[in-house]
Amino acid sequence: MTSKFEFPDGFRLLPEYFSRAAQEKLLENVRHGVGIAPLYRAVMPRTGQPLSVRGSNFGPLGWISEKAGYRYSPSHPVTNKPWPVLPDILLELWNAVSGWPEPPEACLINYYDAKARLGLHVDADENAKHAPIVSVSLGATALYRLGGHARDNPTRSLRLSSGDVVVLGGDARRCYHGIDRIYPDTSTLLPKSGRINLTMRVVGRA
Ligand code: SIN
Ligand code: FE2
Repeated sequence: MTSKFEFPDGFRLLPEYFSRAAQEKLLENVRHGVGIAPLYRAVMPRTGQPLSVRGSNFGPLGWISEKAGYRYSPSHPVTNKPWPVLPDILLELWNAVSGWPEPPEACLINYYDAKARLGLHVDADENAKHAPIVSVSLGATALYRLGGHARDNPTRSLRLSSGDVVVLGGDARRCYHGIDRIYPDTSTLLPKSGRINLTMRVVGRA
């Protein structure tokens, strides 16, 4: 039997959802946020190996990765201060595209330099397993890989450009995904071929 990739229900790519002017406004919000909650390099559970992306968060909760595991935390692991509030422009995006009645509680800010990548994974640390995930890409173009519910399912590669929005709802919510590479010199929004991904999640009660 040959198996081929089929886009899961609930996957949406909204290319160039944000205009250049809106991307600049978002970037201003991110710069303000990381001024309060600096980007830091998290480590992988168990191995303690550093991730190649650097991260921070907006919102009442933030996703963190540490030797003990992954978790949502109300405070930054280095400064121990609360995360900055979610900018209105991101809440407006959530309201426009998520179709979900509750607001997101966490927005992970991931910063990729030209060499960073993110291995295939499922976002599975939330109790709200059915609430969609909405993400925005800013800066350099990335090669995004989308798979199925099992790690060895067929995958499809897509390019995500600055201003693009991805929604993982429905079946897509449980699909493997990751970033295989960053394409240098593909955007003038950020210096040094940097890329930022903002990922909003509802965490829900334990
Ligand atoms: C993620 O899955 O957490 C980030 C995806 C991306 O960088 O586009
Ligand atoms: Fe993810």
